[in-house]
Amino acid sequence: MSRKKVDSKEVGLELGLVLGRYFLKTDDLHYGYWPEDLEVDVVNFPKAQKNYSDFIFSHIPEGTQKILDVGSGSGNFAKRLIEKKFSVDCVSPSKYLTNQIHDKLGESVEVFPCIYEDVKTEKHYDLALFSESFQYINIQEALEKSLELLSENGYLLICDFFRTDAKGRSPLGGGHSLSNFQEILSQFSFEEIENIDITKETAPTIQILDDFLSEVGFPFRDMISRYFQSNYPGFSKLLNWKFKERFEKINRVYFSG
Ligand SMILES: C[S@@+](CC[C@H](N)C(=O)[O-])C[C@H]1O[C@@H](n2cnc3c(N)ncnc32)[C@H](O)[C@@H]1O
Repeated sequence: MSRKKVDSKEVGLELGLVLGRYFLKTDDLHYGYWPEDLEVDVVNFPKAQKNYSDFIFSHIPEGTQKILDVGSGSGNFAKRLIEKKFSVDCVSPSKYLTNQIHDKLGESVEVFPCIYEDVKTEKHYDLALFSESFQYINIQEALEKSLELLSENGYLLICDFFRTDAKGRSPLGGGHSLSNFQEILSQFSFEEIENIDITKETAPTIQILDDFLSEVGFPFRDMISRYFQSNYPGFSKLLNWKFKERFEKINRVYFSG
């Protein structure tokens, strides 16, 4: 019998929710939006996330009623949409997050418990919303599926990070190449209405994550490593040998400056 492996990105998101809930009292899984007058401090993170939600709300096209929230996280944003009288369905491939959505929203939404690419329904939506979920989905498939699920004159609202051709190493792993996205998008019948760059307003979150790694992540990694090397040197060597590439990748992605 084959056993499906647990996806590390999903575990990362679930862990993010658990930590965010406990330490920051937030149920959102997005980066946040920092206007100039909001001090960049971790205590202001929930406020930045609320700003981000407000920003998305303010860009929902007039006349929109039915929204498909693709990659709904814990359902927090869907909840706010429902409070604003939108009709909402959710796409959620993570079992853990899907349970959170059910707990939060009960029968008020239909949840498709699968990846977007696999959604099957007769329903059509006025808007397919991708709030920091587009990066996880193959571009071509996401656009094809959206054409299938959107009503005539329906909208796509994508708010996510993309890789540009800027020099240097990106502080974030993942994200689609912006030029590749635009190239593929141009082959579809979608018409661009707005294209807003909010890098400046979201970047402070990277600063906060960076500070967290320096203040907590590095010391924690070094303490664990020192403990294993001094108390279990043989086991430690075996681990380092067996997971050499995995550890190098973790160091490169999360711990290199
Ligand atoms: C960073 S969270 C964003 C959550 C929420 N939209 C928000 O703004 O707080 C990414 C979400 O995308 C979902 N996701 C990952 N791969 C997906 C896929 N192929 N199709 C649909 N959703 C996906 C994850 O389960 C998670 O809910």
